[in-house]
Amino acid sequence: MASITIRNLDDEVKDLLRQLAAENDRSMEEQARVMIRAAVEGQLGSAGRIDQIEQTLRELASARGLAPVVAGKIMPRGLSSKRILLIIGGGIAAYKALDLIRRLRERGAAVRVVMTSAAQEFVTTLSVGALSADHVFTDLFDRNDEHDVGHIRLSREADLLVVAPATADLMAKLANGHANDLASTVLVATDKPVLMAPAMNPRMWAHPATRRNRATLQKDGIAFVGPARGEMAESNEAGEGRMAEPLEIVAAIEALLDVGPRPLSGRKIIVTSGPTHEPIDPVRYIANRSSGKQGHAIAAALARLGADVHLVSGPVGIADPAGVKTIHVERAQEMRDAVEQLLPADAAVFVAAVADWRTENSADEKIKKVAGEGPPVLRMVENPDILAGVGHHSQRPGLVIGFAAETQDLLRNAEAKLKKKGADLIVANDVSQGSGVGPSGVMGGDRNRVRIVSKAGVEEWPEMSKDEVAARLAALIAERLKTIVV
Ligand SMILES: Cc1cc2nc3c(=O)[nH]c(=O)nc-3n(C[C@H](O)[C@H](O)[C@H](O)COP(=O)(O)O)c2cc1C
Repeated sequence: MASITIRNLDDEVKDLLRQLAAENDRSMEEQARVMIRAAVEGQLGSAGRIDQIEQTLRELASARGLAPVVAGKIMPRGLSSKRILLIIGGGIAAYKALDLIRRLRERGAAVRVVMTSAAQEFVTTLSVGALSADHVFTDLFDRNDEHDVGHIRLSREADLLVVAPATADLMAKLANGHANDLASTVLVATDKPVLMAPAMNPRMWAHPATRRNRATLQKDGIAFVGPARGEMAESNEAGEGRMAEPLEIVAAIEALLDVGPRPLSGRKIIVTSGPTHEPIDPVRYIANRSSGKQGHAIAAALARLGADVHLVSGPVGIADPAGVKTIHVERAQEMRDAVEQLLPADAAVFVAAVADWRTENSADEKIKKVAGEGPPVLRMVENPDILAGVGHHSQRPGLVIGFAAETQDLLRNAEAKLKKKGADLIVANDVSQGSGVGPSGVMGGDRNRVRIVSKAGVEEWPEMSKDEVAARLAALIAERLKTIVV
């Protein structure tokens, strides 16, 4: 047989060959020979011809769902090495899940499927298994799958759970924590991000119970794609309730898994967020109106750019961001300790609204109203200044960013803070009632208007959503860190 020179194959083809060889525990040459022999026995005059080997590899890889081939070229594999657990619910749109599996696999994702028993009334496990090239999971009490607690394993071995179609029933179950079949048990047992693509009759979608469940799920951190408006498959009804198209679901998956550029990969970043609670006694505390929305959004945006994000969060009513390591604290001193334990880091962003003061001695028992004694006097002492502490720390991160929430003299205060606290940047936001940002103001609201104060001057950003501020700040941090070598 003619010899095969792997060196002459192009890089994409070499990568494919390497994967296949590793899967089969063969050398690359051996793998190429086996594949060519099996696929083109008798058709290939000279097995060593590179163009024919490449073509054969592309076709075989494509047939095995390893990479899409369009006009003979291997397309980018945006979801390669990502593991999706797809839960198919019992709705008419279940047929679209078949196309979704195909779209995900051609992008390189490994797809495992759980089907509810209602889903099996609409599509068969046979079709789903053939398309996913894997066993289809249907039964919570399956003797084979559950010997090693399969429902936990299914969630552990996935990067993302996708529910498509998400029936009114599955939404209701998860919103209320029900776990009475494999699909709902996996959803309640997972700590991975979950994306739901609801599909139902417009009246079901508009029902107050479904609206309530959706709001609860969103609050719990579940992401949604769709539903869209349009004709329903099952009748001549139209309205909101149609499942998002498979390619829209794929786009939402790509956004959630953030398969875009990751300029912050390898960078450790500390973010603080939310208020602190300074106890007065076991039931009372001093707090502020910070919701944590801006800090959590910044942590999520940095994680999307690939950073190893450690979020130190005060008490907030929002979900921990996906892909971020979150430490929960209550008091300023706990926040300071948590931050210092996380050093060294490449950057630190102090978004939390840390109480400046705490009570000198919080009472161990609830302070009682005693007739004739009048109100208690609270003696306050200063809390640690976390930003200044890290700004002047021996293990100071290369980039230190503070937030200045002010109700007056915004810029003067921010510039003073920059110098005094040893920060590189101060993100100044006007939190006065008259800031004009949203009906609820900046604190607790969803929008923000900030100014970036640095030694170089002041940059004004227009009013935008807190997510947009976060994305822009994360990009700025990535840009700044490019010049900081550790
Ligand atoms: C023909 C037919 C179509 C249905 N389509 C939907 C649908 O699109 N969305 C939905 O939420 N429920 C739909 N249902 C109702 C669900 O199948 C039912 O609520 C079932 O219990 C859902 O089970 P599951 O959530 O475990 O999959 C449909 C039922 C039938 C008989």
